[in-house]
Amino acid sequence: MPERLKEQIKRLNQIGIALTSETHLPTLLELIVRESRQFTRADAGSLYSVDRGQLRFEVAQNDTLAARKDKVSEAFRPFPMPLDKTSIAGYVASTGKTLNISDVYELSGNEEYRFNPAFDERNRYRTRSMLVVPMRDHENEIIGVLQLINSLDDQSSVTVFETAQEELVASLASQAATAIQNARLINAVHEVFAALVRYSASAIDARSPHTAGHSRRVATYAMRLARAINDESEGSLAHVSFTDKELEELNYAAWLHDIGKIGVREELLERVDRLSPAKMELISTRFEAIKLAVARDFERQRAEVGNPKGSDSGELERKLRKVDEELQFIRNMNRAKQISSKDIRRVREIQRKNFRNARGEIRAYLSEEEAHNLSLPTGNLTGQEFQEVQGHVLQTLNIINKIPFTKDLERIPVIAAAHHEKLDGSGYPLGLTAPDIMIQARILGIADVYDALTATDRPYRGAMPAQEALQHLIQEAEAKKLDPDLVGLFVSKKLYEGVT
Ligand SMILES: [Fe+2]
Ligand SMILES: [Fe+2]
Repeated sequence: MPERLKEQIKRLNQIGIALTSETHLPTLLELIVRESRQFTRADAGSLYSVDRGQLRFEVAQNDTLAARKDKVSEAFRPFPMPLDKTSIAGYVASTGKTLNISDVYELSGNEEYRFNPAFDERNRYRTRSMLVVPMRDHENEIIGVLQLINSLDDQSSVTVFETAQEELVASLASQAATAIQNARLINAVHEVFAALVRYSASAIDARSPHTAGHSRRVATYAMRLARAINDESEGSLAHVSFTDKELEELNYAAWLHDIGKIGVREELLERVDRLSPAKMELISTRFEAIKLAVARDFERQRAEVGNPKGSDSGELERKLRKVDEELQFIRNMNRAKQISSKDIRRVREIQRKNFRNARGEIRAYLSEEEAHNLSLPTGNLTGQEFQEVQGHVLQTLNIINKIPFTKDLERIPVIAAAHHEKLDGSGYPLGLTAPDIMIQARILGIADVYDALTATDRPYRGAMPAQEALQHLIQEAEAKKLDPDLVGLFVSKKLYEGVT
């Protein structure tokens, strides 16, 4: 075997290996054209794929035009071509034959195909020699056409493609076809997986109107924040940047962060007020009874004492108004996101009060359970219920730890499981502090809090206006719970706008 041929076969093998390791389809197609051009010393090259009975143009490379810094004319990106024998690429795609043409302007006229000079005319280029080969996959199906243009000799003059190269290029083209099919398969698997993740997360969110659409919006906010960080060129975030794979990793972590809520009782997800609507209704009815009792007591006292000091009608009115105010206070407490110790004292004061119902029985204004729930400082759930809801993070970790992520996505579980951690150590489940909370998890934390506050689909509690929610984020940042740089970016770049 001649030395040169040996060398070419060796090179062919190297190209084959390079092609199989590239799974990003556009990059792979560019690589195929570049490698085969180098192999044949072709000035230009293009690639078409067979797509639903048509030829779709994928890649064009042209050293001469690139050196002239000419913008490749739009004619280079034509509409799909019919898959028939009238064009050169179409002929090769439909017959499976290789064409090695010494000068496309010197065709005999007896061929079934014709050369289309439109590209040359628009770009002031002269196409001469062409080697056009079909790309066959492992099932011998033609999936595309590789077109090499103007082979150059040692003096950079255009020459013909050697016959000996035909077979080598055909072999390269079939390796390329296999690589394309592999990349398509891998992409298809990724798409199926991504759709499954989105579907599962959305379905779990939709168990409660309180959380519907939450994971999708958290992913949107998180991706906006990460991209904004990539755009930062000064300040403390300038040195942070995420690769495409890291963005993909964060996106999956965002979609999956609450997947563990599958294990939380629906009833607890639904409850957004400290008391259920039914319990609140009960209290309202009771307070109507209290007002009747107050009026009754007032009348009785007046009858007994004859002429009490509060006998003016203004006194009764004041007493009734006080009951109304107490009920209104309870309603406010029920919905308040955060309450003070003064509020809690007032709840206890009200709880200690008694009244006599219509049957003459002594009853408390509020039950112990009601007072307890109303006094919960930060939430609407009792300690045990709160623990159950908090447990969703560990469930999330359990679930996504079972997914065999590839190496470049392996941090998804760690990121997702830290979305409720706070920089000062007050978060859960591990109480991690700043140095142990990855920036990806900090991003998720902000996206999560913001959406939880502003979601409009809450059943009983109105959504918090954006400005109020941002104020809350800023407070959390000042309290060293959320990352101040990230909150700053979220607020200043208005990354919260227009997410529905
Ligand atoms: Fe969560
Ligand atoms: Fe969440």
